[in-house]
Amino acid sequence: MSLPVTAKVPFGGDYNPEQWPEDVWKQDHQLFDAAHIDLVTVGVFGWALTQPAEDVYDFSLLDRIVERAGAQGRGICLATGTAAHPPWLARAYPEVTRTDFEGRRHRFGQRHNSCPSSPVFRRLSTELARRVASRYADHSAVVAWHVGNEYGGACYCELCAAGFRDWLRHRYGTLDALNAAWYTTFWSHTFSDWAQIEPPSALTEHWRGPDHTAFQGVTLDYLRFCSDAMLTNFRDEKAAIRESSPDLPVTTNFMGMYRPIDYHRWAPHLDFASWDNYPPDDESAARMALTHDLMRGLKDGQPFWLMEQTPSVTACRDVNPLKRPGLMRLWSWQAVAHGADAVLFFQLRASRGASEKYHGAVIGHAGRADTRVFREVAELGAELARLGPASLGARTPARVALLFDWDSWWALEISDGPSRLVRYQQVVLAYHRALWEAGVDLDVVAVTADLSGYDVVVAPALHMLKGDLPERLEAVAARGGSVLTTYLSGRVDENDQAFLMDVPGPLGQLMGIRVDEWDARGPEVVNPVRLGAGVDQFDVEARLLFELVIPQGAEVLGTYQADFYAGTPAVTRNAHGDGHGWYVAAGLDRTGVSWVVRQVLARHDLLGPYPDVPDLESALRVAPDETRLLFLLNHRPEPVEVTARTGGVDLLTGDRVEAGQPLRLPAYGVVMLREDR
Ligand code: GLA
Ligand code: ZN
Repeated sequence: MSLPVTAKVPFGGDYNPEQWPEDVWKQDHQLFDAAHIDLVTVGVFGWALTQPAEDVYDFSLLDRIVERAGAQGRGICLATGTAAHPPWLARAYPEVTRTDFEGRRHRFGQRHNSCPSSPVFRRLSTELARRVASRYADHSAVVAWHVGNEYGGACYCELCAAGFRDWLRHRYGTLDALNAAWYTTFWSHTFSDWAQIEPPSALTEHWRGPDHTAFQGVTLDYLRFCSDAMLTNFRDEKAAIRESSPDLPVTTNFMGMYRPIDYHRWAPHLDFASWDNYPPDDESAARMALTHDLMRGLKDGQPFWLMEQTPSVTACRDVNPLKRPGLMRLWSWQAVAHGADAVLFFQLRASRGASEKYHGAVIGHAGRADTRVFREVAELGAELARLGPASLGARTPARVALLFDWDSWWALEISDGPSRLVRYQQVVLAYHRALWEAGVDLDVVAVTADLSGYDVVVAPALHMLKGDLPERLEAVAARGGSVLTTYLSGRVDENDQAFLMDVPGPLGQLMGIRVDEWDARGPEVVNPVRLGAGVDQFDVEARLLFELVIPQGAEVLGTYQADFYAGTPAVTRNAHGDGHGWYVAAGLDRTGVSWVVRQVLARHDLLGPYPDVPDLESALRVAPDETRLLFLLNHRPEPVEVTARTGGVDLLTGDRVEAGQPLRLPAYGVVMLREDR
C-alpha cells in the first residue's frame, strides 16, 4: 500500500473546528472553497472530547466535523487523536505521564506527553484508534489515517527502564554479550543482573546533559530503544486501524532531521511518509531541499506528503519571522519539486487562545478573505487545481545518493572527542548544499539502501559502519562509481567501539589512506588547504577538525598549508576498480566542499542545467508515464534570466518555452516545465 488515492495534489491542512462554535464552520467551508482547499486533517488533538471519561466515548462532535467536510466534498486525513492525553487519564493513571532526563515525574500538562511504555497508555490509545477507525473507515471522504502527531522526546520512568531491559535482552540475549557490547570492563560496570541496568540520564551515566555520557554504548542503545518504543505505539494503533480499515493508507507526521527518532527504522511501518516543514528563517532553501530528499528517501523514493507548513509565521520560536510575499508559494513548489504529493498547512483557522494563538493560519481571528496570506493561499490553491494530477506519483531520477544515518548522528554527537564542535547535520548540510547548488538530483538514503543504481555516493561524517556497507561502497567504486567520504568516518562499529585497525577502518582499502592522528581546534583556527594542480591551485579554509593522512596508494588533491603538518594531504582520491574513493580529511569551507563535489560530479557528467546561477534551484521529477517535469525555483528576491536548455510547456502558466531562448523567472518565481518528448 502506498499513497492515498487523489485526483490532484491535495491542498489544505490541519483543521480544528472543535475550538470554534459551529456557526463559524459554515464560514470556514466557504473560505475553503474560495481557496481551493480540498483536504482537511482533523481530530489530531481530540482525545479529551472523543473520550471524556474512561468508559465514555462520544463521537458526536467528530461526526459533525467529518460529515460537514465530506458533504462539502473535501477529503479527510483523519487523526486517531492520541497525541495529547486527556486530564482524567493522567489523574487516574499517573503512570501515563513521562519522567524526564532529570528524573522528575511529570504531572498532567502539554502534549506529546505520554510514556511510550505505559500499558495503560498503550491500551487506551490503541482502543481509541480502533474506535475511530471502525467508526469512519467506510466514510467516503476519509483518504488517510494520521496516527499520533510528531512522535518524539524520551521518557526515563520505571516502566521505560523495564522496557529497556526487555529490549536489551532481545538484542543481546545474554549479559555477557551486553557487557562486551557496552565495554563494561571500563569503570567497573560489569552487569551481573539485568535489574542493575538503568536508563542513562542525569541521575546515572550523564553529566551536563543528554550528549555527555560516560558510556556511549548505553546511551546509544537507549536512543534506539526510545525510538523503537514510540514506534511500537505507532504500530499498535496502526494494527487497530487495520482491523476495520484494510485499505486506507496510514501515516504519522515526521519532523525532518529530527534527532530522537530514527525515521529509517520507522519508515517500513508507514504506508507513506509525511512531514512538517518549519524552516527557522528565510535562508533555509538548501536545508529544506535536503530534508525533503531525506523524507522522500524513507520510502524508496516514493512521494511524500507535506503535512504541515505555516502559511505565514510560527509561534514557538523566540522570534517568529514572517514569510515574505511569494515565499510560501515558492517553498510549496519546492516541496513538490522534491517529491511532495500534498501541500498542507498548519493550520486552516487560527486558534483563539493558548500557545498557538499567534501561529499563522489560512484564516485569521477576524475570519477575513481579503488578507495577503489568504490571497496567496488561494492563488496557490488555484494553481494546484489547474495543475491536476501531472506530478502525482512522479519520481526523482537520481544517480547520486547521500547517506544519512541516525546511528552515526547519535554516535558522533554523544562522543567525547575528537570535537564537540563537529555537528553531524552541519557536515551533511555542507555536502548536500554543494550538490544542491550544482543542480544535481539526489536521493538521501539509509546506509542499508540498495546502492547499485547510483554513480556517486556521498557519505559525510559516516562515523559508524554497520553490516556489509563497506563492501557495498567498494562495489560502487569497483564498477566505475565514485564514493566520497569525510573526516570522522569509519571510526566505530555498531556498538560504538573503535575498529582495531587504522582509521578509516573498513573504508581504508577503498580510500587508499590511513589516518595517523587528528587535531581538533576552535572555530577561530584556520588551516588553509591548497586544492587543485599546477596553475589552477587555490587555497580554501579548513576548520574544526584536521586529520593527518598517510596515503596508501591514494593520489593527493589538496594539502594543508600550515602547522607542523603543512604539506600533508587533506583531500585524496584513490583509484579502486574502475572508479574512485575520495576522502576529505578536514572541515573545508563552502568553496572547498563545492570544488571537491564538482570534481566528482564532473567525472560522471552530473552537473545540473544551471550550476553557476546562484540561488536558482533545479529539480527533476519523472511522472509514471515518463513525462519529465523540470522545476526551476528562483530563491532570490530579484528576477533571473537564463537560457532554456530544453523546450516544453510551463505547466504553471501554460506558456511555451523554446530551447535556446531566454527564460525569465521573477523574484521567487517558479517554472514547472513539462519537457518536450
Ligand atoms: C507542529 C504540530 C502542530 C503545531 C505546529 C505549529 O508541527 O504538529 O500541532 O503545533 O507544530 O508550528
Ligand atoms: Zn516511561
